[in-house]
Amino acid sequence: MAEKSRKVKSIEREIAELRREILDHDDRYYVLNEPIISDAEYDALMKRLQELEERRPDLITDDSPTQRVSGQPAAGFEEYLHKRPMLSLDNSYSIDDLRDWARRCEKLAGGRNFDYVTELKIDGLSMSLIYEGGRLVRAVTRGDGFRGEVVSNNARTIRSVPLRIKQERESGRAGERGKKGPSPSDTSSVKEIEVRGEVFLPNEVFQQTNRERAEQELPLFANPRNAAAGAMRQLDAKIVAERRLDIFCYQLLFDGNPAFNSHFKSLEWMAKHGFKVNPHRRECRSIDEVVAYCEEWGEKRDDLNYEIDGVVVKVNQVAIQDELGSTSKSPRWAIAYKFPARQASTQLLDVIYQVGRTGAVTPVAVLEPVQLAGTTVSRASMHNADEMRRLGVMRLDWVFIEKSGEIIPQVIKVITERRTGKETEFKFPAHCPVCETKLVKPEGEAVTRCPNPDCPAKLREGLLHFAARRAMRIEGLGVALTDQLTSPRVKRDKKGQVVSGENGEPLQLPPLVRSIADLYTLAENRDELIALERMGTKSADNLLAQIETSKEAGLARLIYGLGIRHVGERTAAIIANHFGSMERLSTASAEELSKIHEIGEVVAASIYEWFQERRHQRLIKRLAQAGVKMEMTRAGGEQVSRVFEGKLFVLTGTLPTLKRDDARAFIEARGGRVSGSVSKKTDFLVAGEEAGSKLTRAQELGISIIDEATLLKIG
Ligand code: IVH
Repeated sequence: MAEKSRKVKSIEREIAELRREILDHDDRYYVLNEPIISDAEYDALMKRLQELEERRPDLITDDSPTQRVSGQPAAGFEEYLHKRPMLSLDNSYSIDDLRDWARRCEKLAGGRNFDYVTELKIDGLSMSLIYEGGRLVRAVTRGDGFRGEVVSNNARTIRSVPLRIKQERESGRAGERGKKGPSPSDTSSVKEIEVRGEVFLPNEVFQQTNRERAEQELPLFANPRNAAAGAMRQLDAKIVAERRLDIFCYQLLFDGNPAFNSHFKSLEWMAKHGFKVNPHRRECRSIDEVVAYCEEWGEKRDDLNYEIDGVVVKVNQVAIQDELGSTSKSPRWAIAYKFPARQASTQLLDVIYQVGRTGAVTPVAVLEPVQLAGTTVSRASMHNADEMRRLGVMRLDWVFIEKSGEIIPQVIKVITERRTGKETEFKFPAHCPVCETKLVKPEGEAVTRCPNPDCPAKLREGLLHFAARRAMRIEGLGVALTDQLTSPRVKRDKKGQVVSGENGEPLQLPPLVRSIADLYTLAENRDELIALERMGTKSADNLLAQIETSKEAGLARLIYGLGIRHVGERTAAIIANHFGSMERLSTASAEELSKIHEIGEVVAASIYEWFQERRHQRLIKRLAQAGVKMEMTRAGGEQVSRVFEGKLFVLTGTLPTLKRDDARAFIEARGGRVSGSVSKKTDFLVAGEEAGSKLTRAQELGISIIDEATLLKIG
């Protein structure tokens, strides 16, 4: 009996210790950005805690780190009345507006001195986190400002949301809110601590999410905000967890009142107690300093790995805030300075229909060219027929387009108020715009498809995908050349004169490339290749050399390059690792495929069916005969060595050739990690043109700063 009670006690103790340890690591990783253990070690701690909790379910509490992910769908969301309304902010769209606002504040303050706090305006959705006895008891969306929805389970999946308020490490300062509030280090008399903040999706997660959605042929999110909002409204917290949301906190209430006598102190308190507060906050003594901050961030907004749509300016002193008061919608003591929009309105002139490599037909809006975030936009995506119907677009409609997080612009809304009656309806085509085969739209699918396996558009897109950086990396094979290679050629005589047939029309020769495999026999047709317009010997030989090199790309890249439906880069890497050779993969059954962790039934069926097709079997055979490597070189390694193992990189500025994603993939493929901000743990800062604050910080910390060329050399 005594033995049993000792054992019970030790499980309890171990659980408590593990929880404390894991929460501490969460804080170091997600808030401080300075992890001290590896992901594997972290997983081991979590696994142990899960095991113990499985043995003792009675000990599971809401704030256990294991409860961050729950597979249990909630039965809808409960409503909650905010203690203090979650007001919105007035907007200013120019520095003049901002100065006018400051003048009004000064006037209303009646000559009393005050200063401002500037913060970045995060483009996400606001959330209220409520703590009782130091524990997170409720998370509520803003809703209409008065009544929100309780989304506690979803909020718990956000790793930077503390489940418990962290105790201050060093001793706190003395009480500062005077009579009204408690001292900062002593919150024992406070019943409820409320932290408000903005939930957002980091850009890279947004891009990854959209890449995965594109591979699964799901509609893409227009911007990170929509993706974050969509996630928060999910009933299944598991899906929310997959979306890897984050939060920056910007308001602190003790029992419904401002916690300290100044806003900046609230921010500092939150930062000290385990909440993630944006590091770019600043106390400004004058409106000139505020203006300088706004101008600085207007230029540096692209340096960040999350979207901001402006700057929030707040009067710092709570006494002055009280004096200024609020309207029913927004406080007079704060204002949002909005950056020029990445949204624009323009007229939709037409819709063209593009056929992708899987035959999916995508409607693309042809727009009256318009300036948007520094570029001229004349095309925008509308994804599929369902989306076109949902938008309700008509020819000559005025529409809003939006660009965010590096993706192509999208039509987000029709401005029906601007209709004149001249607009005409669009009809989604019944036949392929390229090969005229009757299109199909399987029941329950959003995508309309061209079923013709020989559709030239599929070959063209398939080649571009095969040659892409992430696949076989045949750099010279761009859109123009792919068009030339896949189009019929005009026959010329030895003098270069066009040869005509009996009917006087130029004689046509078949295209040089009619299958991906033809790339590898192009060397046999070198003369014909050189004879192509704008080609020449040097370019032709360069291209042939790159095609030759691509044979060594490795199994994972090859599988990805084949463009099998639902098989993105990650899936390709997983199956390459699992089977080790094309031979084994091509003979795997659907069942065997679906048994692989992370491969679902739909993906398994798609892979299996692809390999059943004779034309695909022929393709693989021809690629193998040409010498394309069909085996993993080394388990998990795929040719490249893991030279960056354990090294932490930060990317900044514009690199000469690599996109951010490519640079990240390059580093990760070699075992390195990429983080969004510079800290003492950073090993290398890869700096390109117009590197901003990260470069300065890295210089201050004495971190190695390298350029793209060096990265490629050492990798
Ligand atoms: S303060 C009473 N600070 O912007 C003051 N809001 O357009 C309430 N937001 O509803 C907000 N970053 O969702 C504040 N640093 C920041 C913010 C921020 C983003 C959002 C918030 C608010 C909206 C107003």
